[in-house]
Amino acid sequence: MVDALYRRRAAAGTLLFDEGDEADCAYIVERGRVEIAASRATGNVVLTRLGPGEIFGEMALVDGAPRSASARCLDDCVFVVVGRDQIHREIAGATPLMSILLRTLIHRLRVATSRVVSPALPIGIDETARIVARIEGEHELRRALENGEVVAFLQPIVALDGAAPAGFEALARWVHPTRGLLPPTALLAPAADADLLETLDFAVAGTAARAVAALNRELGAAGRAPAFLSANFSAPHFADTQLAGRLAPMLEEAGLDPIHLKVEITETTLIVNPHAAEALARVKALGASVSLDDFGTGYSGLSYLSRFPIDHIKIDQSFTSRLVEDKRTAEIVRSVVDLARLLDISAVAEGIETPEQARRLAEMGVGFGQGYLFGAPVPADAACAAFLAA
Ligand code: CMP
Ligand code: MG
Repeated sequence: MVDALYRRRAAAGTLLFDEGDEADCAYIVERGRVEIAASRATGNVVLTRLGPGEIFGEMALVDGAPRSASARCLDDCVFVVVGRDQIHREIAGATPLMSILLRTLIHRLRVATSRVVSPALPIGIDETARIVARIEGEHELRRALENGEVVAFLQPIVALDGAAPAGFEALARWVHPTRGLLPPTALLAPAADADLLETLDFAVAGTAARAVAALNRELGAAGRAPAFLSANFSAPHFADTQLAGRLAPMLEEAGLDPIHLKVEITETTLIVNPHAAEALARVKALGASVSLDDFGTGYSGLSYLSRFPIDHIKIDQSFTSRLVEDKRTAEIVRSVVDLARLLDISAVAEGIETPEQARRLAEMGVGFGQGYLFGAPVPADAACAAFLAA
């Protein structure tokens, strides 16, 4: 199946296709001019003449109907041919709304210009229902963010050498007025669709930072060490290098010293964002530290430890859950932790559920642990109260 770009040459006068033909490709003019003509009530009319850089023959590929007009070379021409599969793949990758917009526009053009009555546009009620659901989801999420329904739950992170609490990870929760407490999955997909991930992350980090700042004032008054806050920052924050500039006023307003903030970023985010290294360097200049989340699940990673300014790694729960039964997993974790230590990188193991897992991880030199053994994510005030009482 040829679905790559390739070129076609055609001499002046060549009829590339006729009105009503079946279509299998579109063309981008590289050299020469092309005349597009179609039959109208008044006879055959020239619709347009196209030159280098222009595309034609796209309508029939998008809607699957016959060619709406004929195309003839006015000069010796060179075209880049765009295959049907290529166009269909891109349309399939478009959002449902974009796909309907595209097909509707082409349908309108056909209806407006054709002499015959065009058939109805084949867009099903199911397809529009999905779009309506998505639009509603976006509105609901915006409203939730404005009303403060999206809050931070805090999950304790403990020092494995004595299981004393050391800090928290902030996790997004939607406290819905009628549907109750919704999991992060109810938030993340609509937030990504609606381009609201940055707003969401800041809503969560901001409420968590205020709670941890208040806790740290109490800990300080009691002569105890402050707690740290690990907060997740998704890919869109790293489309530029400005995260630190946006974090500074948020921390200032919350009253949290930047040195108590760990910015969690996933391996995938690091890899796909060319600005990530510079953005993280600025986060560190602010005084905050950087934690590599889901370590070991992605493209993994040892090279990232040297290429990026990483201070902490979070060993993914898939390693924690296998480590007691599986010797190879245990050895992988051990060598990663050894390497991290040599690089002055601290390790946090996620998903710890049993004392045996905690014991083994501590023995390997993992400094911190997180998981149901130590506590589930709970509302920020409850998490801070438990920390104080510990
Ligand atoms: P398609 O229908 O695949 O084949 C004929 C092409 O002519 C069509 O795609 C468009 O690229 C082009 N075309 C159709 N109608 C017009 C128009 N009114 N003006 C300019 N170009 C057109
Ligand atoms: Mg995380």
